[in-house]
Amino acid sequence: MNTHTAIFDHWIRTEFVTLNSELEQLYWQQTDKANVEGIGEALKQQLEKEGNVLISNLLAEGNTDQGFDSAFDLLGNVGLFMAACRRHEITEPSRETTSPLIEASALAMHIGASIGVTPRFATAHLTTHNKALNGIYKRFTNLPDEKLFLDYNTQGILAYKRASDALLKILPLGISHPLCGELLKVAKQALIDVIESNNALYSELDTDRFFNCVRPYYKPYRVGKEVYRGANAGDFAGINVIDMLLGLCSANEPSYSQMLVDKFLYMMPEDQQILREAMRMQSFMDDFLQAEQYKNTDWFKSHATLFIQVCKLHGDTAVGHHNQLVEKFIVQPSKNMQQQHMSKVTASGPPLNVLLDSLEKLRDRRASAKRDDIKTRFDDLNTLKEWVK
Ligand code: HEM
Repeated sequence: MNTHTAIFDHWIRTEFVTLNSELEQLYWQQTDKANVEGIGEALKQQLEKEGNVLISNLLAEGNTDQGFDSAFDLLGNVGLFMAACRRHEITEPSRETTSPLIEASALAMHIGASIGVTPRFATAHLTTHNKALNGIYKRFTNLPDEKLFLDYNTQGILAYKRASDALLKILPLGISHPLCGELLKVAKQALIDVIESNNALYSELDTDRFFNCVRPYYKPYRVGKEVYRGANAGDFAGINVIDMLLGLCSANEPSYSQMLVDKFLYMMPEDQQILREAMRMQSFMDDFLQAEQYKNTDWFKSHATLFIQVCKLHGDTAVGHHNQLVEKFIVQPSKNMQQQHMSKVTASGPPLNVLLDSLEKLRDRRASAKRDDIKTRFDDLNTLKEWVK
């Protein structure tokens, strides 16, 4: 790491966290905890000024190619700064047509475009690609609630990735290969891990703290002229690889492919590559349905049974995410929020009811629920269940 990069990284890990934490404490003391206007102005100015000076030094230095990892890491640091400025309303995308953080925007756009990712901080920066120094990884604040949220997000993402890796390994072997069953068992266990991790998050995370002091750092913000949607734990390929390889969601279904198109640049380049490949593969659901002639063989019965269990568990992770996490930590607190703050609730920008409707459809596709308005695999899964009885 060169000197300017190291100094900025040190600031992000120390002073930046202190300033955000002090501001959180001030907001939290108010009756209307969602208000940030007119609070802690000196701290906000200090944050903006210190960040801008450090970033100007980096920008002046120009392109000193240190490889992908360090470029991605630096983009994350610039992004954390820009997201914090958004959280404290030092910037506000509806108030401006271009980001007032000119140097930060220029640096973020330079790096983002050169490595093929969106020019903002992404989920990976805080979860799977967040280097810990002496046990402490990068965060916005020193609040235990934020750490808890990030620990469980990382845990959930890693578990989904284990499931997706196992399923991808079946592709070159085929569903009748003797080891297909072993890989389906790995996927099963990984999805159970997702459920357990999400259950723990559900019971341990404090709703008010999350809603008021953690979630606001994930809002959309402007880089240059464009507004980039907020980061969410779904910005990795694994979840969609599972969807498509199982056959529960399909890349030629307009609302699903729209979601994929929108999320590509929010993922690491290696994830973008995996997702592209998965979009071209035939699903295991179709493989099993096309293997009807073997339905009375031992391999079919045992592999299809495991496959059905994996589908059920994947559906259960989606049901838990929607009915527990989204409901408890977004929907419920939104109902109590003062109307003037409501437009700022979701990370991706659309009004909450629109977002909920699309998340609900996603949940029902993953759960193969019976629905007349969207295509789900309800009937196909029932056919498979009949065959293995
Ligand atoms: C997306 C809420 C934790 C996986 C979303 C969205 C919301 C949400 C509201 C829609 C995107 C947006 O906000 O614009 C929450 C809440 C959580 C939580 C309140 C906990 C407090 C997690 C965890 C995982 C996860 C731990 C597991 C890895 C996903 C995925 C998406 C997503 C995969 C993308 C949409 C999809 O494919 O389902 N989440 N989430 N979330 N979240 Fe979470």
